[in-house]
Amino acid sequence: MLKVNIKAAPTANEIAVYFVRQPAKGKPSCSEPTVNELLARAAASGDFTAKEGQSVLFYPAAGGGKKIDQRVLVVGLGKEKPTAEAIRKAAGVAVAQVGKTKAKETVVRLPEKTGLAIPELLELLTEGLILGSYRFQKYQTAADPEENGSQLKSVVLAASPTKETQAALARGMNAAEAACLARNMANEPGNHWTPTHFAREAKRLAHGVGLKVSVLGKAEMQKLGMGGILGVSQGSAQPPTLTIVEYRVSPKAPTLLLVGKGLTFDSGGISLKPSAGMEEMKYDMCGGAAVLATMQAVGRERPTKLNVVALIPSSENLPGPAALKPGDVITHYGGKNVEVVNTDAEGRLILADALAYGIEKYKPAAVIDIATLTGAVIIGLGHHRTGLLANDDTLCDKVVAAGEAAGEPLWRLPLGPEYRKQLKSTVADLKNVDKRDGGTILGAAFLQEFVGKTPWAHLDIAGTAWSFTEKSYVPKGPSGIGVRTLLTLIRSWK
Ligand code: BES
Ligand code: MN
Ligand code: ZN
Repeated sequence: MLKVNIKAAPTANEIAVYFVRQPAKGKPSCSEPTVNELLARAAASGDFTAKEGQSVLFYPAAGGGKKIDQRVLVVGLGKEKPTAEAIRKAAGVAVAQVGKTKAKETVVRLPEKTGLAIPELLELLTEGLILGSYRFQKYQTAADPEENGSQLKSVVLAASPTKETQAALARGMNAAEAACLARNMANEPGNHWTPTHFAREAKRLAHGVGLKVSVLGKAEMQKLGMGGILGVSQGSAQPPTLTIVEYRVSPKAPTLLLVGKGLTFDSGGISLKPSAGMEEMKYDMCGGAAVLATMQAVGRERPTKLNVVALIPSSENLPGPAALKPGDVITHYGGKNVEVVNTDAEGRLILADALAYGIEKYKPAAVIDIATLTGAVIIGLGHHRTGLLANDDTLCDKVVAAGEAAGEPLWRLPLGPEYRKQLKSTVADLKNVDKRDGGTILGAAFLQEFVGKTPWAHLDIAGTAWSFTEKSYVPKGPSGIGVRTLLTLIRSWK
């Protein structure tokens, strides 16, 4: 992980990064005279206008015996007053460009006249730098460091270290490191990341930050009647787990329950998926990874107004000899019977048990689940917005605002009794699928049956959890989506 520190303006660096805005009129400029001179030449040539995403690298000539930076990278911030997201993106561009050089350390100068306060800039730059420099090379013994930009080890943000600036740095680091942790879990292939690994990882990370972890195994699930998780795991040799991580500040504080889908490989089961692209279904645990990683940040930051409990139901979905068959009827925690018409709609089955159990046991003030639940959300929203469905407008608005602030935008879809009717079964209380139409809503309508009156929001991240490579600070592969949204929501909880 990239190390980021705050230090007052060091001189003569391997590389120094400057961010500049594109003025409405005239050429971009910089208050540092030597950089301004270089910039003026690049701007005069027309090569650099400081538009968003642009950058230019200089090797300044030593003049007058002054100590100078070996390299100067200037990154464009775009025309208007930069948004928080523009700062993260510019940091992502910076880290990608610095990564092309041999520099191991870089100094980043804070952008000027942005309208954003210094602590906010520090937090955003820290997030963008750490998230942008993330690479997963665990299984590449001959990884090419030049290609991967992995030379950069540490960044100094040029600012005076005060209580306030250090706190901003810590916020940025906690958020970005948690998102990178979620990416790490997701990047593990299915044979190296099974339901047991979720339980193990929870214990490992809880240890350092004083969280309580408990794990329900197959025997406990049988006693509790969790027919959903048990049913889905039936076709696999890997035993299922339900990992519970608790952060408790006070018995009087409200509890937020987080539930993440931890399907460590989804073949579809007997309703087998086509083979093309099936390898991507190792990412079907990104929701579980997101809530577990969020708990790392919660444990470090220790919010004072909120208890947070995370549940990660985890299983494989394979077509083994004992697998669930289309038409089978299972009984969920709490007693509802479900006809499994399609074994590939398994996420809702494992989430149903976790939601019903978590709500009964922890009596949360609100519950949020996050899941790679439906391919339909990709048809509807593509890869740039997470689908959001909720039974409570206030909670929904809070989640939307948190996602916006985190640069992880969401879009609400409707729910309603008409949709619920589509899930009527002729043999059981309800069935797990209907026709393809409105698939994301039907998935949520199914989950809604298990949350009762508790304010609930459901995040369908099937389109945003991976392969969403449009952003400088989100490399190819799993994005770590949801972690910073949940953390933003927790930090601002009232
Ligand atoms: N994990 C998948 C959803 C998914 C699909 C996530 C593509 C990411 C990319 C889920 O378990 C699933 O298979 N859903 C089915 C539901 C259908 C059978 C009603 C789907 O979307 O096709
Ligand atoms: Mn499936
Ligand atoms: Zn799935």
